[in-house]
Amino acid sequence: MNTEASRTLINPRSSSTRTVSIAGTGCYAPERVMTNADLERLVDTSDEWIYTRTGIRQRHIAAQDEATSDMAAEAARRAMKEAGIEADDIDMIVVATCTPDMFFPSTACFVQKQIGASRAFCMDLSAACSGFLYAMEVGQQFISTASADTVLVIGAEKMSSVLDWRDRSTCVLFGDGAGAAVLQSRGAEYGIMTTVLGSNGNLSDLLSIPGGGSRNPLTAESLEEGMNTLRMAGREVFKHAVTSMSNAVLEALRRCGASIDDVDCIIPHQANARIIQAIGQRVGAPIEKFYLNVDRFGNTSAASIIMALDEAVRNGRIKNNDLVLLVVFGGGFTWAASLVEW
Ligand code: ACO
Repeated sequence: MNTEASRTLINPRSSSTRTVSIAGTGCYAPERVMTNADLERLVDTSDEWIYTRTGIRQRHIAAQDEATSDMAAEAARRAMKEAGIEADDIDMIVVATCTPDMFFPSTACFVQKQIGASRAFCMDLSAACSGFLYAMEVGQQFISTASADTVLVIGAEKMSSVLDWRDRSTCVLFGDGAGAAVLQSRGAEYGIMTTVLGSNGNLSDLLSIPGGGSRNPLTAESLEEGMNTLRMAGREVFKHAVTSMSNAVLEALRRCGASIDDVDCIIPHQANARIIQAIGQRVGAPIEKFYLNVDRFGNTSAASIIMALDEAVRNGRIKNNDLVLLVVFGGGFTWAASLVEW
């Protein structure tokens, strides 16, 4: 048996508290576009009602044979290219989704298969629309403690598969898509500086897909009642989304000794333009500081924030050394805010 004096072990955590950067991003939106005019033909609604209440003009809808992992894998390929990495470099894949391909295997395992990341270990994460920032925090913790070097974090959703297309109060709000980010330690001074995470399970009934799990398994009766589709108390969700996201923004700034004026760009969860305006008023940020693409994609749940971040980077809205604030809210309830040095 080794005595302590004779041991020569390597401490795999000796480089703990490494800074973690977003090394590359990518996104994918399905080809088919559904406009508000298309929805007028499905339910009793109007472009005017949808646009003034939500800011949404159109959303992308996945093909029938296109699963969440298909969209996720395409977004991943684009992020890998941007980060300049190969599939073999990836240690870990985390997919945030509430519309997985199946209960199991995880959607992350299907992505692994599609992109050929055979070295990676893979898992899904469930935090509804907040999932991407939850997953990013998990990835950042693995890298900062040297348990992984390269993590692929994905937010991907096929929301069209869980909507009741007869319910005008929900079906007009959502869209499909995927976004991905490669996380690595690249010696940045700050990188991902902090992520504030919060949940309130007491309010779980206000936004859910009640059927299909162990509480209400799928039966002919539960299907008849539409329990396999999304239910939402819109007004309540609106109120809590504004309060929780505003508080998360202020807490993230406080932790880093920053003020809202230090922030160059805010990427909010793209659920509703009015929610974003209300957050701006509460945290003292002009609307110009927010990046919005909800008009073109609707609410893509866990994919929303990373699709918007990717677009903002690609079109030059976010530049090197910018301070970027990401903030999300979703079912659970769950919420999160991250402050990132780009
Ligand atoms: N077209 C026309 N009329 C509609 C529609 C529609 N698509 N949907 C609802 N209405 C009607 C209602 O039936 C109601 O009619 P009534 O007064 O005759 O009963 C009227 O419009 C007002 O309905 P409200 O639900 O009170 O409308 P509100 O102004 O609250 O807007 C909305 C609804 C847009 C859903 C709003 O509550 C909202 O944005 N909530 C937040 C929802 C959200 O963003 N959820 C996702 C965030 S978390 C996540 O991403 C999972």
